[in-house]
Amino acid sequence: MAKKPVTVTTSQGYPIPNPFETQRIGEHGPLLLQDFNLIDSLAHFDRERIPERVVHAKGSGAYGYFEVTDDITDVVGSAFLNTIGKKTKALVRFSTVGGELGSADAARDPRGFAIKLYTEEGNLDWVYNNTPVFFIRDPIKFPHFIHTQKRNPQTHLKDPNMFWDYIIQNQEAIHQFMILFSDRGTPATYRHMNGYSGHTYKWSNEKGEWKYVQIHLISDQGIKTLNNEEAVELSGKNPDHAQEDLFNSIEKGDAPSWTAYVQTMTEEEAEKLPFSVYDLTKVWPHKQFPLRRFGKLVLNENPSNYFAEIEQAAFSPSHTVPYQEASADPVLQSRLFSYPDTHRHRLGVNYAQIPVNCPYAKTFNPVIRDGAMTVNGNYGSAPNYLSTLENPVEFKQTGVNYQAKQEYYQGPALPFHWKVEGDIDYVQARALYKVLGKQPGQQKALAHNIAVHVANALPQIRQGVYKLFAKVDQKLSNDIRGEVEQINPKQTAGKCPYNHQKL
Ligand code: HEM
Repeated sequence: MAKKPVTVTTSQGYPIPNPFETQRIGEHGPLLLQDFNLIDSLAHFDRERIPERVVHAKGSGAYGYFEVTDDITDVVGSAFLNTIGKKTKALVRFSTVGGELGSADAARDPRGFAIKLYTEEGNLDWVYNNTPVFFIRDPIKFPHFIHTQKRNPQTHLKDPNMFWDYIIQNQEAIHQFMILFSDRGTPATYRHMNGYSGHTYKWSNEKGEWKYVQIHLISDQGIKTLNNEEAVELSGKNPDHAQEDLFNSIEKGDAPSWTAYVQTMTEEEAEKLPFSVYDLTKVWPHKQFPLRRFGKLVLNENPSNYFAEIEQAAFSPSHTVPYQEASADPVLQSRLFSYPDTHRHRLGVNYAQIPVNCPYAKTFNPVIRDGAMTVNGNYGSAPNYLSTLENPVEFKQTGVNYQAKQEYYQGPALPFHWKVEGDIDYVQARALYKVLGKQPGQQKALAHNIAVHVANALPQIRQGVYKLFAKVDQKLSNDIRGEVEQINPKQTAGKCPYNHQKL
């Protein structure tokens, strides 16, 4: 059968018989402003670039799944980890750190190992590196440090003075720099390296017991590295060698995988460490804190569109699920802010609506609304505040993570003004009602002004209003009720404005 020719259309669907044709006056032009397709094509092309990631700009990604291989429920209560054999869809993006989007894959640089797990309790991002430690333990140093790894502001060249000047001033970076300048500083491919949380996280189980944890993803392909000369040569010959290797391996069915392990530490053990449990320039000794296997990560599907699915992927350590949370490590705490902040800049305020970032888990958030590129229906006609009328939110308090947070919160006791017991909110309201009583007609005016507004509200809302004002003064409540029933005795305000069925 003859192949059906592809019909080219404008962005609005109008079929274009000859896509190379432009509308012009006569044979030699000039062009016509009415040629929507030409103008649209050029205007869109002019806007094709979005900001590249400020770090980790060059990367490669693939889909796969995470499978639970061993029972870990005594450590963590997250639903996706609750049954052996349970599989969760995953997206992984590997990257180098310092180079620009077009830089060479064989650079001497840490490698990013960012994982998005699409769980039934929302998206969980494990935003890891291929090294178990990092250069800093004070977050304010991050922009200084990264600038020294980038280009000199004048020469626009990578600068060994900047690079080493930073290290000689910041001794805590020595551990990571020694890893970086070993051959592990240039992994042969993304498949032949491990992933590490680096940071200390906190996991808790369903009973509310929590532990500090570090996660390790050990390559089932083994570790392979490049020596300095091999890496330099490869950077020239094939700057995209790691992208090519990942894509081709998956394409030919050779799916790379990693075995997941957790190290756990109690609070008491943490107190006895010779370094801080929040210091990510240090590793936890494996002998004292053995690796415990719990899962496998497999990558078996290439993206069908790099820009849509990998460039637009937005990972953040703050995208988490119940029973997994950040520790008080200040670098990690700062990252919780930095990633969504950069996503809003790089991808826009609705970055979570981009399909690759969109959770499969049902979401509802009355205040995350509108904004540029709202594309998912915007929660339809559901309330845009926490409504008592048609509240589709089922509040499920696990309490566990919240409690854990309280435990390590060392700040001062909450100040008095947050204590809102009893009827403290009515004390001054009652005093005001009394003051109004001293001015002729003012108590009545208050009741009248409220009544004309409330008269249009639904019966259950009216009842709530009467109850509320009775706490100020029963007479005020009675006056409001009396007038409302006079103005609009039958409820005629129409049906509830919300229809959460559409969610
Ligand atoms: C204060 C410390 C840090 C800050 C402020 C920071 C900030 C950032 C920013 C702004 C991005 C770009 C994200 C984007 O455009 O989507 C990024 C990417 C990334 N960071 Fe960090 N980072 C820090 C430390 C770390 C550490 C300690 C790790 C690993 C343990 C890490 C792993 C990654 C990875 C894997 C990516 C790439 C994510 C992707 O593939 O999209 N970062 N970081």
